[in-house]
Amino acid sequence: MTGGRVIHNLALVGFMGTGKSSVGQLVAAQIHFRFSDTDELIEARTGKSISGIFAEGGESQFREYERAVVEDLTGFYRTVIATGGGLVTQEENLNSLKTHALVVCLWASPETIWARVRHQMHRPLLQTPDPPARIRQLLAEREPFYRRADVLVNTEMRSVKDVVHHVIHQFRLARGHPSHP
Ligand code: S3P
Repeated sequence: MTGGRVIHNLALVGFMGTGKSSVGQLVAAQIHFRFSDTDELIEARTGKSISGIFAEGGESQFREYERAVVEDLTGFYRTVIATGGGLVTQEENLNSLKTHALVVCLWASPETIWARVRHQMHRPLLQTPDPPARIRQLLAEREPFYRRADVLVNTEMRSVKDVVHHVIHQFRLARGHPSHP
């Protein structure tokens, strides 16, 4: 599936609360890659918080910043990149990631996602009267995009450690180095 591609990086995609940042940091430490997070890159580039961007310019402004950061990622090397949950819903973003990274999607059910994010209500897209319903709706809309990742990893009923091992294994296989990063 990844034949002919040069894979320098590992991109983690998937809905908020699927563990992209925690898994990504652990994977990066184990394979001696840098770790980067697209939301943090956007905040550094704009000098604004994600919530501030949504409040001032709305989601469309945020998605523009996201596209610009995806462009920057093409110059990254030996980096594990955790992406914002909606980033791959713009097809060109996913296509761009695939030019330099193995794209791994972390998956969880809406119920598990809600259980994981319910105490972290800073997320602008969950500022609604019924966040569980919003999660179900967004996840259903986004599922076809997430399924376009190179590898889909179900995080349900699995420890973070197990997910990390699985992601590293898939990355090594894709790079053709089963025992080295
Ligand atoms: C978003 C997810 C967030 C952040 C922004 C929008 C989304 O990132 O990019 O709030 O569209 O799902 P995380 O997935 O890291 O929470």
